[in-house]
Amino acid sequence: VNGKIQIPVVVNVLYRTTAENISQAQIQSQIDALNKDFNALNSDFSKVPSTFSGVKANVGVSFVLDAVYRKSTTKTSWGTADAMKKSTQGGMNPTSPTTKLNLWVCTIGGGILGYAQFPGGSSSTDGVVIDSKYFGTTGTATYPYNLGRTATHEIGHWMNLRHIWGDATCGNDQVSDTPLHNAANYGVPAYPHYSTCTGTPIEMTMNYMDYTDDRGMYMFSNGQKSRMLAIFATGGARNSFAQ
Ligand code: ARG
Ligand code: ZN
Ligand code: CA
Repeated sequence: VNGKIQIPVVVNVLYRTTAENISQAQIQSQIDALNKDFNALNSDFSKVPSTFSGVKANVGVSFVLDAVYRKSTTKTSWGTADAMKKSTQGGMNPTSPTTKLNLWVCTIGGGILGYAQFPGGSSSTDGVVIDSKYFGTTGTATYPYNLGRTATHEIGHWMNLRHIWGDATCGNDQVSDTPLHNAANYGVPAYPHYSTCTGTPIEMTMNYMDYTDDRGMYMFSNGQKSRMLAIFATGGARNSFAQ
């Protein structure tokens, strides 16, 4: 892997209302945001505090819109049990999931912004689901989740990243250059926010794998980059995506 991975993206839009049938411009705005966030081209990358400037990453993965499929439905919300990924349940099956990243854009409900499948799961459900109100940066994209970072976060999971707090108090995210976090952070935390975990490090609250508002997250670390690129390498769970 040379850090020049290019991912074809298939967008599956499931809509009941006209608002849910998001525009091509809103879809492209999400692709554009991903290409910025994964290539250190986001305008807020320069806001990373100097404490972390040695580990902030240019991941070097790019995304190309491959196809958009749309389907009208009568469902008001889809939940998180993968129904949107199955035509037998009124959803849409993925297209070429071993070589293309499938996104499903629909109303999830329950306050869920999005969810992802980690590497190693069934290809029939592989991909990322994003609520249409938190997809892209224009159209129906809704503050404070209107900078496309729900997809950045979820694709981080799709590329094998854990939450930065390790889903436990002072938990382990399996990445050595991210500090210990007590728990998820929300909103836009003031810097510096100190952890009370071992060593009382300053938390990397501006990492995409925390739970802050979109404007509060603007970096991956080099350790996260290594973990992501490893899945595309020979023997990696997403090697079928490598050119
Ligand atoms: N899986 C998380 C949720 O649904 C996504 C969090 C994304 N955060 C963001 N700022 N967009 O709550
Ligand atoms: Zn998450
Ligand atoms: Ca860590």
